[in-house]
Amino acid sequence: MGSLEEILAGFPLKERWVYLDNAATSLKHERVIRAVERALREFGVNVGRSAHPPGEEATRAFERARETVASFLGVDPRCLAFTFNATASIHAVLCSLDLGKGDKVVTTALEHHSNLSPWLRFSEVLGFDVEIVGFDPETGTVDLSELESAVDDRTRVVAITHESNALGSLQPVEEVLRLAEEAGAYVLLDAAQSMGALDHDFSRYHFVVAPGHKALLGPHGTGLLYVREDVLEELEPRLLGGGSTKRVEGSSVVPSEPPHAFESGTPNLPGVIGLAEGVRILEEVGLRRVERRVRRLTDRVLEGLLDLDGVEVLCPEARRATIVSFVVDGRDPDEVSRELGERGICVRSGTHCATLVFERLGLRGCVRASLAFYNEGEEVKEFLRAMEGITRRGASS
Ligand code: ALA
Repeated sequence: MGSLEEILAGFPLKERWVYLDNAATSLKHERVIRAVERALREFGVNVGRSAHPPGEEATRAFERARETVASFLGVDPRCLAFTFNATASIHAVLCSLDLGKGDKVVTTALEHHSNLSPWLRFSEVLGFDVEIVGFDPETGTVDLSELESAVDDRTRVVAITHESNALGSLQPVEEVLRLAEEAGAYVLLDAAQSMGALDHDFSRYHFVVAPGHKALLGPHGTGLLYVREDVLEELEPRLLGGGSTKRVEGSSVVPSEPPHAFESGTPNLPGVIGLAEGVRILEEVGLRRVERRVRRLTDRVLEGLLDLDGVEVLCPEARRATIVSFVVDGRDPDEVSRELGERGICVRSGTHCATLVFERLGLRGCVRASLAFYNEGEEVKEFLRAMEGITRRGASS
């Protein structure tokens, strides 16, 4: 078990970069890298299929990883499937519901494309309706009264982000859960930015999707799907293949029991083993401390940017935890990002796969600084100094 200092010192890329692009993916810790390598070296064969010794070891390690992540989230391992990313988890939910004509899915203009495009595209084929609810540009919060009117007795799913990846605004998800449950609808919570960063009880939502490679500290190509126990019985898994099919009887498919019904094809064993190690690191730091640290760093970024002339923070009134998005007067966001990159500072610019957000704000994009608990106060200072230089030069040119 490592001390906080040891854990903070274990991210190799931190030595080279001030990394403030954690909403895209987290840096990988030495222990995660070693866990992936160990899995590949010691039992890197297939999972849940072969009765030979390394095959059985791989299956045991995979299921132990599930127990680790489930216990971290406080959920039953049966309710937790490993997928390849949050997008794949959303598709697994969509395919497992009998959506059709007369049904409605309510989502928001704050969503990442992964929580919009699947619903919109499948609605064209299956005939259900999609209603997209707006948000307040000052707070970046979904318009709750519009949402309340949109959610009616036809609504099957309310698909909403926990923390906007583009604006950083936290959404009133508990209120959304209450409204949806009153109408008999499911909530699909996109916890892509929040799981692993916020001390939040995810077990109450019907579906929670998250990547493993962001705040959970796992490798790329890992994702999670949580399905609440009572909802499991109501689903008809349809993203099927090997592992998720128990047998085919004539022309009928008998799916495997959950969670395997949601895990089609050969899984990402090394990724999942790395993810479990990432989660162990978070457990050692303690999720409360993780949240406190990242919120404090984010507040410093926010305060520093608000003090700079020529910088406009998007949704300055937002409740936020890990992300601050902004534009610089007269400067293209990509140019600002490149200039920061030349000074060793990594941020993301553009529309962040959330083009509706920017359409509604009337912007072509923004620069996004996104924090993790392993960032340091000194890195925030370096970023703010660089931003001061960029804005000062902008003002004098
Ligand atoms: N969804 C990731 C982001 O927001 C990649 O950057």
